[in-house]
Amino acid sequence: MINWKRKNLIGIEELSKNEIAQILDLAKIFKESSGSKTEQKFQLSGKRIVNLFMEPSTRTRIAFEIAAKSLFADVISVAEKSSSLTKGETLRDTAMNIQALGADAIVLRHSSPGAPLFLSRIVDVPVVNAGDGAHEHPSQALLDLYTLQEKMGSLEGKKITILGDILFSRVARSNFWALSKMGAEVTFAGPSTLVPKAFEAFGAVVKHDLQEALADADAVMLLRIQHERQSSSHFPSLAEYNAIFGLNADRKKWLKKDAVILHPGPINRGVEIDSQLADSPQSLILNQVTNGIAVRMAILYLCTTYGQS
Ligand code: CP
Repeated sequence: MINWKRKNLIGIEELSKNEIAQILDLAKIFKESSGSKTEQKFQLSGKRIVNLFMEPSTRTRIAFEIAAKSLFADVISVAEKSSSLTKGETLRDTAMNIQALGADAIVLRHSSPGAPLFLSRIVDVPVVNAGDGAHEHPSQALLDLYTLQEKMGSLEGKKITILGDILFSRVARSNFWALSKMGAEVTFAGPSTLVPKAFEAFGAVVKHDLQEALADADAVMLLRIQHERQSSSHFPSLAEYNAIFGLNADRKKWLKKDAVILHPGPINRGVEIDSQLADSPQSLILNQVTNGIAVRMAILYLCTTYGQS
C-alpha cells in the first residue's frame, strides 16, 4: 500500500527512512516487472515531464528520460544552451513558462545549491532535484542505496567509505544522509583539503589515510574531482592525487575480499580509479546506471501521482 505525500524531491536530508523504503520498494517492482502488465499498472500516461538541465549530464538525464517514457509519459528535455536562458530570461520565468505550456513535473539540474527548492516555491507542479551544485543529488543516492541493497541486503551496520572530493560533492552529501538513515556507518576519506574534519559534525567518520579508510569497508564509493566547482587547486596535481588516493590493483589488497566498488560517474580513469578495478567483477558501476531507471521511475510516479505538498 502506497502512503506517499511528498510532491517535490529536493533532497535526502528531509526524507524519512519509510519514504526511502517506499521509493526503493516501488523501484524493485519496476525493475523486476520491466515491460510486464504489473509495470503497466503504474502509468503516467498523458503526463508531460520536462527535464530542465542547466549543467551537463549523461546518466541522469537519459535515465530520467527513459524512466518517463517507460511510464508512458511525454518527456521534453531542455538544455541551458538551447533555451532562452541564454537571452537573459530568469530561471523563474523559464519555469513559469514551462508550467504554462502544460508541464506536469519539472526535473531540474542546476549549478546553484537551492535552485530546485526555489523552483518548488514558484510552480505548482512537482519539482525533482537532479543535482544542485554541491548540495544534493537525491536520485543518485537512491540508486546507490538500491544497488548496495541488491548486492548485500540490509545496510544496517555496514561500513561504507566515500573516497575523493567530498567538499564539492552533492553525491557525498546525499549518500551520507541516505546511508545513515538506512543504518550504515559512513566514512569520508581523501586529502584533508577536500575532506575537512568539519564533516565529523555531520556524524561521518573522517579519515585521511587511504589504507585505514579501505580496511574494514564493505563498499567503497569513489568520487571524481569536481573541477567545475573549484576556483583553486586543492592538491598539487592529478598525478599526485592518483599516487596517494587513487584506487589501483595494488591497493585492492587493502580492501576486504568481498568489498564492492561504486562510482556515480563520470569516471576519470587513472585519477580516482584504474581501469583494472573500474571494470572488475567487484565493480557495481554499471549496475548503478541501470538501476537509475527503475529508481527514477519510482520517483516520478510517486511525486506526480501522490504528491500533495
Ligand atoms: N552521476 C551523474 O550525475 O552523472 P551525470 O552527470 O552524467 O548525470
